[in-house]
Parts: sequence; structure tokens; C-alpha cells
Amino acid sequence: MIVDNFRLQLGKQEYVPLVIGGMGVNISTTELALAAERLGGIGHISDAETGYVCDQLFGTSFVSTKRKRYIDNINNPDKAKVLFDLGEVAEAQKKYIEHTVSQKTGKGAIFLNCMEKLTMNNAQETLKVRLAAAMDAGIDGLTLAAGLNLRTLDLIQDHPRFRDVKIGIIISSVRALSIFLKRAVRLQRLPEYIIVEGPLAGGHLGFSPDDWHTFDLKTIFNEVIQFLKQENLAIPVIPAGGIFTGTDAAEYLAAGASAVQVATRFTISKEAGLPAKVKQHYINATEEDIVVNMASTTGYPMRMLIQSPTLDYTMRPNCEGLGYLLENGGKCSYIDAYQKALESRKSGEKLAIGEKTCLCTGMANYDCWTCGHMAYRLKETTNRLHDGSWQLPAAEDIFLDYQFSRDHQIRLPEPEENA
Ligand SMILES: Cc1cc2nc3c(=O)[nH]c(=O)nc-3n(C[C@H](O)[C@H](O)[C@H](O)COP(=O)(O)O)c2cc1C
Repeated sequence: MIVDNFRLQLGKQEYVPLVIGGMGVNISTTELALAAERLGGIGHISDAETGYVCDQLFGTSFVSTKRKRYIDNINNPDKAKVLFDLGEVAEAQKKYIEHTVSQKTGKGAIFLNCMEKLTMNNAQETLKVRLAAAMDAGIDGLTLAAGLNLRTLDLIQDHPRFRDVKIGIIISSVRALSIFLKRAVRLQRLPEYIIVEGPLAGGHLGFSPDDWHTFDLKTIFNEVIQFLKQENLAIPVIPAGGIFTGTDAAEYLAAGASAVQVATRFTISKEAGLPAKVKQHYINATEEDIVVNMASTTGYPMRMLIQSPTLDYTMRPNCEGLGYLLENGGKCSYIDAYQKALESRKSGEKLAIGEKTCLCTGMANYDCWTCGHMAYRLKETTNRLHDGSWQLPAAEDIFLDYQFSRDHQIRLPEPEENA
């Protein structure tokens, strides 16, 4: 039994049932998403910090323009007035998404991972603009992640593509799903797919920091399948989190999944956005290096390597330029932690901000090394080179390994010359 025995049907289209999950601030790059699309699967790009991403990719100046606008506020812990210009938000979103979807060549699709917790000091309006601009730019699907904003469908119900774009939701419990579906039923706009993310995933987790380890993906997946059966709803279910081999994936497909979503194995692909040196840290990680903590300012637990430079950040909050995680009213728990550390520091002492990190900067600079729990097994997926470093596989190698491998075997990439 292999993944290739199955197909994902979404509307009239059929796909290889492999979805590469969104990995924020350009870890799941255009190139990574396009690799999945070319091979008939589904690739995600993420819309976290698109203004910043555009500046890096296209030389625009969204961040510096915003910083200049609010330069007088830089030393003020009150960030209430640091708002995004909605026209600029839409422009950045369109630019980035058009750049990606215009390069499609395959039979797969490109979806947008839309992090609803990216509150941008004006949660509803900025989300509305981001989603509308994504649809205008021709995105194939919108995956609503991290946050479960129950008004999200309402925000876009007047958009001409509301019923044609594919819409999916990421949930970690039947409870969250049933709440979302109530609203969706009222609008007569059910999602086309449901991603069930378990506690071993990378990024933010939809569990509490104390009890995430008491849950497991298989149980939640089965509960979701049962629930949909009871409700007479035929919506494709896509499990995610810790699916490491093609056989892990095929077992879910045989148990009723319509596809699987995977991410960690692709973090070390040539196409992923992390710097090459950071990819080596991922491959060298041991199980003890992979921790779940509350350093993220979103209030959700996050999994990351303990060596992440962001955990030692002591920088002044950078909300005038970035500010993507400001809650309405300009609040962020990193600003509070930073102020508290400043006030309690004795003269001559180094600043120490243990509890929170500036995640906007950490993710933008690839200093927050978030990963799934299985990252410690990445060394099984590639070749060691003569100098002790690891070969970085192409996304295609990883994708095809998931699609065709048997018996939990992992096919290594063709060795490079010095492997
Ligand atoms: C480096 C990394 C970054 C991630 N960033 C996001 C994100 O921005 N938004 C999101 O919804 N999920 C994010 N995820 C979760 C993935 O999209 C995916 O659902 C999950 O990691 C799959 O499990 P796996 O990594 O064990 O394969 C991230 C995962 C990783 C590994």
C-alpha cells in the first residue's frame, strides 16, 4: 500500500494526496509550493508578514515606509496608533501571490496558509483585505489556520470568488470543528477540506502547553471522521503532524483520510526558505533539542529547537516596521516582557527577557527554528557529506519518497559528488 494508490478529489479536480503545509514567513517558499504543484499535489505559501517578504524578494519598501510613518513612536511602549495601511497590505499580498501562481505549470494547486492570529493591530479589517487580495490574485485555496476566527467566512462572503475558491480549516479537535461548521452551515458555505492537526506538528499548536502530549493525531482524526459521518457531511479530512514516512501517510489514506499534510521533512529541502546553515541544525537535532514552549506572543504553544536564537532576543520591539502580531489596541506580550525587564534590570546587568520573544522579528530573520516533533529523524532522510555536513534534498525527492515508498522505507536522494 502506497500513497500513489490514492487520489484527493476536491470539486472536479483530482490531486496526488500530498499537501505541503504552510510554513510561516517564507519557509514554505514559492519554489517549494510550486514543486508540489508540478508533481500534482498541493503546495502552500504563507501570508505571514507578506510586506516583509515582498521587500526581501522584490526590493519593495513596505517595512521601511511603515517604520518611517511611525518613527516618532519607536520608544513608546503604547503601539495603539501603529496601524497598517490597508492599501499596502493588499498590494503586498497581491504581488506575492501573483508572483507564485503565475508560475504554475502542473496539475496541482497552490493554497494560502492564512494565519488568523496575525492580528496586525486591526484583526478583522486586515484579515478581510488579505483574503480578498489573495482571491483577486488567483489563489486556488485558502487554508484558515491558527486562530479559528469565527467571522472569517462572513468577512469574504461578498467576494465574487467566495464560492469558487477552495476553503479549508485547520482544527485540532471536534469541538473547534463543530463550532466553525455551525457558522459555515448558516452561510451555506461548507469548507472543501478539513485539516486535522495533531500535537506533533511544527509551528503553533492548537493544544494547551500542559497537556498537548496527552493527545494523539490518530484519535482526533478518528473522532473527526466519526463526527462527519454522524452529521452526514462528506468533507475530505487531511491529517497533519508527525507523518514522517510514505507508509505513515498511506496508513491514514487507507483509514479514510483524503490526503495528508506534511511539513517538517520539507524544511531541509533545497527549496525551503531557511538558510542552509539552519537546515543543518534541523538535521543534527536530537529529540531532546525539540521543545514546546510559550515564547510566542500569540498565546499558543509553539514547537522549536532549543537552540533558536530568538529565545535570547533582548531587542527593542520592532512594531513600527513589522508589528504583525500586535493585537487590537497595539498590545503584544513581548512589549510587556521587554518593559518589565527594562524596569527590573540593575545597572550594569544584561537585559534578560526569558518568557517571551519578538516573534515578528524572529520569524522574519529565520531565528525561530520551529519544527515538528519528528525533526530529530531528519538525518534518516539524507546523505552525510565528507565534511560532516548533510546533503540538502530537492523537494521533488521528498515528495516522490512520500508518494512511492513502502514499508516505512525512506529513499535517500541521489548522493552528491562528495557524499
Ligand atoms: C517550520 C514550520 C513552520 C510552520 N509554520 C506554520 C504556519 O505558519 N502556519 C500554520 O498553520 N502551520 C505551520 N506549520 C505547521 C505545518 O503547516 C504542518 O501542518 C505540520 O507541521 C505538519 O506536521 P509535520 O511537520 O510533522 O509534517 C509549520 C510547520 C513547520 C515545520
